[in-house]
Amino acid sequence: MIIHSASFIQSSATLRQCPDSEKPEFGFIGRSNVGKSSLINMLTGFSHLAKTSGSPGKTRTINHFLINSSWYLVDLPGYGYAKVPVGMREKWIREVENYIVRRESLACLFVLLDSRHKPQTSDMAFMEFLGNNQVPFARVFTKSDKLSSGALEKSIHLYDLEMMKIWEPLPPAFITSTVNKAGREEILALIEETINNLSNQA
Ligand code: GTP
Ligand code: MG
Repeated sequence: MIIHSASFIQSSATLRQCPDSEKPEFGFIGRSNVGKSSLINMLTGFSHLAKTSGSPGKTRTINHFLINSSWYLVDLPGYGYAKVPVGMREKWIREVENYIVRRESLACLFVLLDSRHKPQTSDMAFMEFLGNNQVPFARVFTKSDKLSSGALEKSIHLYDLEMMKIWEPLPPAFITSTVNKAGREEILALIEETINNLSNQA
């Protein structure tokens, strides 16, 4: 798919504040600093579209980016960022969960996992929550440029083994890097296919 245009539409603190839901959207979620905002920039080819940071907790709202005037990419706040006061953290989590479960136009959620790390309890629990709520999602193993191909394969295999304990079949998986643009075509192809399926159903 060719990205002709990408523009920031708005930041929303709650589901109610989000733009009208007449266009399909694709959300990006995962622990703080896993690379959600960077991935949105890499996919669109607009390197300063979503704000990124070396320190976790940068994205704190639900951010809609309109692509090709017809669908949205949505940058979401990360979970598991300890430095935010507990009350505020709970509020974000509530709002993001509310968005994920109730947003009718959410076509697919991409759950980002740092390919360097072993399966994390918070990620496993979050994916279980998605499964329980029947939210369609795909896994994205980020920062693959930081590992050798052997170490990457091992790390993903470890994740699959852990997930096979409760998942059958395993959710789809992509491997990405913002450094060498790995995974870009594959993720855009999934988005395109999903949009085509939705318009055929309409
Ligand atoms: P929060 O908004 O704080 O939850 O973080 P985020 O998940 O949006 O992460 P962000 O995109 O801000 O990236 C965090 C850091 O990881 C930045 O320093 C990025 O440059 C770096 N990063 C993201 N993706 C990659 C990647 O594929 N490879 C490498 N080497 N660095 C990456
Ligand atoms: Mg971010």
